[in-house]
Amino acid sequence: MATKSVSTFLEMKAKGEKITMLTAYDYSMAKLLDDAGVDSLLIGDSLGMTMLGYENTLSVTMEDMLHHVKAVVRAAKQAMVIADMPFLSYHTTPEAAVLNAGRFIQEAGAHAVKLEGGFAVRDKIEAIIAAQIPVLGHLGLTPQSVNMMGGFKVQGKSETQARKLIEEAKLLESLGCFGIVLECVPAKLAKMISEAISIPTIGIGAGNGCDGQVLVIQDVLGMYDALSPKFVKTYANLKVAIQDATKAYCEEVKSGAFPEEKHTFKINEEVLEKLY
Ligand code: KIV
Ligand code: NA
Repeated sequence: MATKSVSTFLEMKAKGEKITMLTAYDYSMAKLLDDAGVDSLLIGDSLGMTMLGYENTLSVTMEDMLHHVKAVVRAAKQAMVIADMPFLSYHTTPEAAVLNAGRFIQEAGAHAVKLEGGFAVRDKIEAIIAAQIPVLGHLGLTPQSVNMMGGFKVQGKSETQARKLIEEAKLLESLGCFGIVLECVPAKLAKMISEAISIPTIGIGAGNGCDGQVLVIQDVLGMYDALSPKFVKTYANLKVAIQDATKAYCEEVKSGAFPEEKHTFKINEEVLEKLY
């Protein structure tokens, strides 16, 4: 099956078909999600927390990202692969932004990049798209701006904030972004934005009026409970499953119950006798 692409996203929006996206950071998980049919895999800079144990996304580097993007690309057979641009990789000059975005395509094989912000990063988005690299925008709660926002808060509740969000969504559409992630935006505002633009919105904490949804895979699978935001729905409890399996393994090793005969390799008895 051919890999899904930017055109798939736009066609799905036109047809009113919802787009599915999940984060993935490694080969074995990405393969499971791709086989299960998810439309797109995002190597989010959330890997700073889920994979690397950082406090927030601000410490994530290009090298951290590339390592994981390469692994996911090797697994994806049908899903579109989108690489998240880390903090500072697109904030200096348009040239630096193109070169960093280009590394995800040229070195890692991603299909597109995602970056946070609207007016503040306009010239960078233009330059990356001019280099023929598809860009997924990201508005609302943009975690790389946590120090400017003064915490992780729902965005777009006031009239000023809401108007800015609408204008920035239209800006990203006019710049040629193929979609926009809307994070922690009131549901009715996200719906209004989704109806006002021709490119798909992918919501996270932005309600059912978005054209698609994205969640962090550890949250979906119930593996990571350091944070448990309101917008998360847990579809499995792998934390319990993994811990139960780990405890059972440890107990069986300690008691000698594992490994059993069927898990072992044989040696010819004649060879063995010679050794005594
Ligand atoms: O880093 C990430 O996982 C993200 C998604 C939550 C949209 O940016
Ligand atoms: Na991110």
